[in-house]
Amino acid sequence: MSTGVFEPPAAGRSANGSASPAAPVPTAAAEPTTAPTSADLVGPPTPPMTPDHLMRLGLGFTAAKVLLGAVEVGVFTELSARGPLDAGALGSALGLHARSARDFFDTLVALDLLDRADGRYVNTPTTEYFLDRDKPTYIGDALTMLDARLYGFWANLTEALRTGSPQNEAAAGGDPYAGIYADPARRALFQRAMGQLSRPSIEALADRFGWEGYGSVADIGAGDGALVCHLAKRHPHLTGAAFDLPEAAAAVDAYVRAAGLRDRIRFWPGDFHDPAQALPSADVLVLGHVLHDWDLAAKRALLAKAWAALPVGGALVAFEAFPDDERRANPIALLLGLNVLIETPAGAACTIAQCRELVAEAGFRHIRAEPLAGPESMVIGVK
Ligand SMILES: C[S@@+](CC[C@H](N)C(=O)[O-])C[C@H]1O[C@@H](n2cnc3c(N)ncnc32)[C@H](O)[C@@H]1O
Repeated sequence: MSTGVFEPPAAGRSANGSASPAAPVPTAAAEPTTAPTSADLVGPPTPPMTPDHLMRLGLGFTAAKVLLGAVEVGVFTELSARGPLDAGALGSALGLHARSARDFFDTLVALDLLDRADGRYVNTPTTEYFLDRDKPTYIGDALTMLDARLYGFWANLTEALRTGSPQNEAAAGGDPYAGIYADPARRALFQRAMGQLSRPSIEALADRFGWEGYGSVADIGAGDGALVCHLAKRHPHLTGAAFDLPEAAAAVDAYVRAAGLRDRIRFWPGDFHDPAQALPSADVLVLGHVLHDWDLAAKRALLAKAWAALPVGGALVAFEAFPDDERRANPIALLLGLNVLIETPAGAACTIAQCRELVAEAGFRHIRAEPLAGPESMVIGVK
């Protein structure tokens, strides 16, 4: 996968990271007559090296903050409603200082987040679609959550690397979700953000799984209920359950009500770590962005519960940004693996192969893995 920030491997290494074919061995005639210096032994870099890749990554936080700041002050929503606007009109509509406005908007143009013609700014098709707060396709809450929570926590990355301890609301110990859910506003933002971050994979899952062969679905760790609601809308024969901690009730109920699905989708409160708590029974059980939060024993316990809750012939679908088996080709998945270090006491991302193995260990058969959206993929097993 290639993004604007994550560059291809540096010259001299192939795409899978192995060294390029060896340089030709110098012939006797070409050998130096004086003792080689260390520069002779290393040889000249080919092609000439530049620090561009390093600087682009090192400065990556500035671009991230420009995007996150633009969402916070409402650039894209304002332009969607009133654009095209020049720097003066857009800056004063957003309450920006005259000194900052033009540089800020032109940076957004250079980052391909705005377009400009005759000194007036408009959204790009992507920002118009995803970052206008008034559209149902808005994903700005996901970016707001990254800004409000993760940006600050990642300042302590090296602390997490040294100690192995979370740097978020769970830094003082305890369940990571207890910390997030203690504050209703933080909980609501987190749940909306998860639904928006998951939307591309939810849409892919709705299209790429054989739902016509199943009558019911239960989403385990359902967040705001976006997945079951989307599946039920898309496949009108499906009924569903959204299983999550009791604190998720209000968000799920609101989503189900807004989707007009109260007759087909129900919220199912529970704690999936409680040994006495069975998971809801359904033809398909989904674990979306759940396995990576927990250690190996908890992953195994969850998969065992999923097995127990499914009928024979039922299917398990586990999806998240699983790193590729070589752990080098999917940088976003590996970064999200580090995010699990920051966010949880013992979570760890598993590769697609490791997930397949865990799913097989739990008793599932006919296991397959398929890509979903962006860096994400799903592992499917049948009971
Ligand atoms: C990372 S979020 C994923 C949400 C959703 N599946 C998605 O992909 O957008 C993990 C979810 O697991 C839920 N969860 C965490 N601990 C839980 C527990 N002990 N029992 C039930 N749900 C839990 C959280 O409330 C949260 O909604």
